[in-house]
Amino acid sequence: MTELHLWLRHEARTTERRTPIVPSDARRLVDSGVTLTVEESPQRIFPIEEYEAAGCRVAPAGSWVSAPADAVVLGLKELPDEPAQLQHRHIFFGHAFKRQPGAAELLGRFAAGGGALFDLEYLVDDSGRRLAAFGFWAGYLGAALAVLQHRGRLVAPLTPTVQEELDELLRPAAGDEEFTALVIGALGRSGRGARLAFHTAGLEPTCWDLAETRDLDRRALLDHDVMVNAVLAITPVPPFLREEDLDDPAGRLRTLCDVTCDVGSPLNVLPVYDRTTDWDEPARRLRKEPPLDLIAIDNLPSLLPLESSTGFSVSLLPQLLEFGVGGPWGRCLDRFHRACRELGIVEGESRHD
Ligand SMILES: NC(=O)c1ccc[n+]([C@@H]2O[C@H](COP(=O)([O-])OP(=O)(O)OC[C@H]3O[C@@H](n4cnc5c(N)ncnc54)[C@H](O)[C@@H]3O)[C@@H](O)[C@H]2O)c1
Repeated sequence: MTELHLWLRHEARTTERRTPIVPSDARRLVDSGVTLTVEESPQRIFPIEEYEAAGCRVAPAGSWVSAPADAVVLGLKELPDEPAQLQHRHIFFGHAFKRQPGAAELLGRFAAGGGALFDLEYLVDDSGRRLAAFGFWAGYLGAALAVLQHRGRLVAPLTPTVQEELDELLRPAAGDEEFTALVIGALGRSGRGARLAFHTAGLEPTCWDLAETRDLDRRALLDHDVMVNAVLAITPVPPFLREEDLDDPAGRLRTLCDVTCDVGSPLNVLPVYDRTTDWDEPARRLRKEPPLDLIAIDNLPSLLPLESSTGFSVSLLPQLLEFGVGGPWGRCLDRFHRACRELGIVEGESRHD
């Protein structure tokens, strides 16, 4: 492998405590000959001393802007608005390849500086399967919050916690009423997480995936008290629920958690709400009669920063060890160039191809 200099940046978003590489995996990178610079960060779940002890170099928060040109800057969420020109190669979730709001501005900054975006959402294997993802913990938290809401024990605002404490809240207590739960997308990462959370809560959910929704039985769906939607929709399918289904007086559904948060997207399978919920207002009453509460939080894994970072880092590590021009990273780079073309962004001379 050519010498790789990775630069783990501080996250600009103050509530983001996760990290794509945890100290134990940082040590593996360093031991493999990677130069790893880690920025100080007040909110990162792992203290900088642990990275230092793993052999990483330490740099001030935000100093990636003046990192050596060949450094590959690693993060999770959005970059700060400055500098206007991005000259480095960056690895993070850019949310910019599907013409999302701000996409043209972000890609334009890369084009202006000659840099490149390796979007983690598009780091996939030969069959298109994501190689590093937070889905498991998203599903786990989605189901956990749904159970707590259904049992009247969800306390706002939500704050980051650890699994042990969450599980303590989830375990059934004397007097808790039995209820039925449904997970759709049950065979995926998020679906598996949701099933585990239900299991911890003493429940065995009904599990549906592609086979069970092909000929959708909405009556059977509405026969559940709690539903967690954890699908990854790739092509449009008929909605799982429509407005009129919520009026059904025989329907039992009282708590709906939409892990996908695909509201507004053409692939949305739950066109029954128009805005997500958040940590301050995790559940919102969607219908008064029959009553239905909605949970649709788009940054669920950040609520378990330790566990979700650890899981993500384990998957990302082997990919970082293979960082190079071909394979998954090559596909990522191709996807970046394609997104620029689709938005009519003319890239200048690239510093990195
Ligand atoms: N809210 C959050 O914070 C958060 C965080 C991470 C991921 N997510 C979302 O979670 C969802 C699932 O992600 P994942 O990593 O588990 O994906 P995944 O690919 O591992 O699993 C998705 C599952 O959905 C199933 N599926 C697809 N279409 C279906 C349909 N029409 N009917 C039934 N099942 C269907 C697939 O067969 C698969 O088993 C995605 O929408 C993702 O964007 C949300």
